[in-house]
Amino acid sequence: QIKSLEEEFEARIARDEKIEPKDWMPEKYRKTHIRQMSQHAHSEIVGMLPEGNWISRAPSLRRKVALLAKVQDEGGHGLYLYSATETLGITRDEMFQQLHSGKAKYSSIFNYPAVTWADIGAIGWLVDGAAIINQVALCGTSFGPYARAMVRICKEESFHQRQGYEITLKLAQGTPEQKAMAQDALNRWWWPSLMMFGPKDDESPNTAQSMKWKLKRKTNDELRQQFVDQTVPQAELIGLTIPDPELKWNEEKQGYDFGEIDWDEFWQVVKGHGPCNKERMKARVSAWENGEWVRDAAIVYAEKQQDKKLN
Ligand code: 3HC
Repeated sequence: QIKSLEEEFEARIARDEKIEPKDWMPEKYRKTHIRQMSQHAHSEIVGMLPEGNWISRAPSLRRKVALLAKVQDEGGHGLYLYSATETLGITRDEMFQQLHSGKAKYSSIFNYPAVTWADIGAIGWLVDGAAIINQVALCGTSFGPYARAMVRICKEESFHQRQGYEITLKLAQGTPEQKAMAQDALNRWWWPSLMMFGPKDDESPNTAQSMKWKLKRKTNDELRQQFVDQTVPQAELIGLTIPDPELKWNEEKQGYDFGEIDWDEFWQVVKGHGPCNKERMKARVSAWENGEWVRDAAIVYAEKQQDKKLN
């Protein structure tokens, strides 16, 4: 018997088929992808700010080169993701408008300040470490352009994480003051990194549906647990202490139990009241306004090239 468009779509998802931009999809599927993918792209672009601030302050040329490359990569990841999101029928200008007006979110983690060079190590090690776990899972996402963008992005992310962990390792094995800096950075970035994975599954309005549509292949709590289990041994290896007195290996579940996240802090930051939210938005809006002449010139140039080709 003839299947409805909806039933055919569900059957395709069940068969692990990739949904492509021109395929029929439920309006809600389209909308939730525009929401998540544009916010993912915004996270990459806003994420360039705390790290960009340290490019001119890097302690050596080698560190400067690695950080420069990483920040450029983040910009590229943002562009991949904006392009992938445009295939769903939203323009780049609309997405930027949503970010600048506060309508669109970006990852809470970038609303914390990078106060010492050790923070650059902690960001690479923990923030990119968390992002890798999240993004490796997204390589299996059902929307084709998003899955393909993730495969390309994940190839660059492991370098980001390694350079951050190396910075932290060098400091932890350095002078007592350097080790204290590395521990201080871990103390300030550990819990905000756990918050990157989103609210608990039973408090997440999107997770259940996103799992059904295979947008998500693992839930917020599953990915968070994976991050904790992977990262605790890395801290122990370099003699740093995870700032969670309730952290304890649970033999039965073969994973760590850990303390409660401060969800008030999480929602405060998500709602725009974190340490750097205002500063980050100001930086993005002024970059957008000061860059207008570049966009206008590029468009006029492209039109002239087009005319030349046609005449
Ligand atoms: N920061 C800001 N907002 C967050 C958040 C966080 N850490 N976690 C959740 N939220 C928001 C969600 O966006 C949602 O709001 P919305 O409906 O208005 O979008 C609300 O809180 C409820 O959360 P849900 O768990 O129901 O929402 P999702 O199902 O979308 O899950 C997510 C949230 C896990 C962040 C998911 O959107 C996701 O996996 N996004 C893609 C990954 C991503 O954005 N990563 C950014 C990390 S930084 C990065 O990649 C740069 C790196 O290279 C350094």
